[in-house]
Amino acid sequence: MDSKIKTQPTIFVIFGGTGDLTSRKIAPALYNLFLDGWLPDQFSIIGTGRTQLTDDQFRENLLNDINQFSRSGKAVKAKWDEFSQNIYYQVSDVKDSETYKEFGKRVEKHNTDWKTKANVIYYLAVSPNLFPIIASNISKAKLAEDPLKTRIVIEKPFGHDLESAKELNKLLSGIFDECQIYRIDHYLGKETVQNIMAFRFANSILEPLWNRNYIEHVQISVTEQLGVEDRGDYYEGAGALRDMIQNHLLQLLCFIAMEPPTSFNADEIRNRKVDVLRAMRKFSPDDVRNSAVRGQYGKGWMQGKEVPGYREEQKVAPDSNTETFAAIKFFVDNWRWQGVPFYMRTGKRMHQTASIITIEFKDVPHLVFPTEAAESWQQNRLIISIQPEMSIRLQVQAKRPGLDMVLNAVDMVFDYKGTYNSPAPEAYETLLLDTMLGDQTLFMRGDQVEAAWELIMPILSTWQAKKSLNFPNYSADSWGPEIAEALIARDGFHWFSLPANGKK
Ligand code: BG6
Repeated sequence: MDSKIKTQPTIFVIFGGTGDLTSRKIAPALYNLFLDGWLPDQFSIIGTGRTQLTDDQFRENLLNDINQFSRSGKAVKAKWDEFSQNIYYQVSDVKDSETYKEFGKRVEKHNTDWKTKANVIYYLAVSPNLFPIIASNISKAKLAEDPLKTRIVIEKPFGHDLESAKELNKLLSGIFDECQIYRIDHYLGKETVQNIMAFRFANSILEPLWNRNYIEHVQISVTEQLGVEDRGDYYEGAGALRDMIQNHLLQLLCFIAMEPPTSFNADEIRNRKVDVLRAMRKFSPDDVRNSAVRGQYGKGWMQGKEVPGYREEQKVAPDSNTETFAAIKFFVDNWRWQGVPFYMRTGKRMHQTASIITIEFKDVPHLVFPTEAAESWQQNRLIISIQPEMSIRLQVQAKRPGLDMVLNAVDMVFDYKGTYNSPAPEAYETLLLDTMLGDQTLFMRGDQVEAAWELIMPILSTWQAKKSLNFPNYSADSWGPEIAEALIARDGFHWFSLPANGKK
C-alpha cells in the first residue's frame, strides 16, 4: 500500500525560471519528487523570466540542468517525457501588470481542465529587490485571495538588516496571511538537521543530560573550502555574518537549545525556536570586541591549485572590508543554558568543508584512574555531523585492550550510509513538498527572522563602523584567523573538526 501523503493538484509559478537556483535546486528537486511519486497527478510548472524562450526550449534547458544536478543522475527518457509535459514557460516582465493577468488566465485554464481548484505556489527565486514588486503585483491581480490555496515562497536573504526585514514582513503581511508565507532557509530542509529534533525528542536518555549541569560548551562550525566563486557582487554586500550566521547557524543553534515542544505542530516548534532567539544575550559594543571576531581570506593554495584572495575575486573591491569568516561566542540566558557558551564559526576557503555541531560534556567529578591510565583523557563529546558526512558520534572513554589499564576515547557512531540504503532527499525536495502540503514547520516565521536580525545587529553595526585593519588575515586552506583560536582558547577550549576519514 502506498503510505505517501497525497498532495493536492498544484501549479508552481517560478519567478526566476531561467536563474541559477531553478537550474541547480528547484528543477532537480521537482523532478525527484515526481520520480518518487510525491507530485500529484495534476501539476503544472510555469517558469517565468525575461529571456525569450518557448515551452520546448525551457524544457530542454531544465532537462540539461537535471542531467547535471539531480541526485538521481541523468533523467530517464520515459519519465522525463511524462514529467516535462507539465512544464511551461511564460516570458514576463515582473513590473508589468499584464504578466499577472496572464498567470491568472493560466491558473483558470488548469482549474477548468482539471475540474478542481488547484493550489498555486508562487516561488520567488529572484533577487531580493524584486520581492516587493512581485508580491504587490500578485496582490493587485488578486492572485492570492484564497489563503488556503495560494502560497508564496521567499528565498533568502530575507532583509539586509533588521529594518529592511521588518519592512518586508510588513509589506508581505499586508498582502498574505502568515500561513501563506514560506521563508526558506535551506538548512532546515537538510535530513541531518531535521534529525536533531528526532534525536533529541524521540530518545529519553538525552533530556536529563541536555542542560547546563552536564554540558560544558557547544560548538557549531560550518566551514567551506569554496571561495565566493562568481557571487562577489552579492557577497560584498553580505559577508559571513549575514550570509550564514543570521540564518543557517542560528537555526542550528535553535534546534540544539530549544525546549521540548508539546507537539509536532509547526507553530509550536517555531515558538520554541523563537524562545531561544529571544533568550540569547544581546551584545553591547564591548561584547562585540570580546566575543566576535572576523576574517577575510587571502590568496593561497587549495588542493594543489593556486587560488585568489577574496580581494582579488571578481566583482570584489580591492580594499574590501567584507568578512568571509566569523566566529562568535553566544550565551542563552535561561534556566537550561545559563553559563554554557555556544561558539559558532563559519568561513569560506577553509581547510575543510564540514558542518558539525559538537556538544562537550563536563568532566567526571573525580578521576579514579591512575595518571598513566588517563594520559589521553578526553571529556565526553557528542558530534552531530550535518554534512558532508552524515553521522552522530558519541565519544566515550574505553579501556584499550591489554594487560594494563590504559584509557582512550572511542566513538559510538550512527552513520547514515552504513545504516540506511535509501539516499537522503535534497533539502529542496523536503521544502518543496512541505510547501505543497502546507506544512510550515521547516520555514522561518516573520518574528523568527526579526529576532535573528535583532541579535546580530550590534555586531553588524560595530563591524561596519570600525573597519578591520588587518584584512586579509587568514590564508586559503587554513582554519581561519588566529584570533578565532584565541576567542575560544581564552575559555580553555579549542575548535573541533572532523578529520576527513571520520575518525577523531
Ligand atoms: C548559502 C550561502 O545560503 O549557503 C552560501 O549563501 C553558502 O554562501 C551556502 O555557500 C552553504 O550551503 P550548503 O548547503 O552548501 O552548506
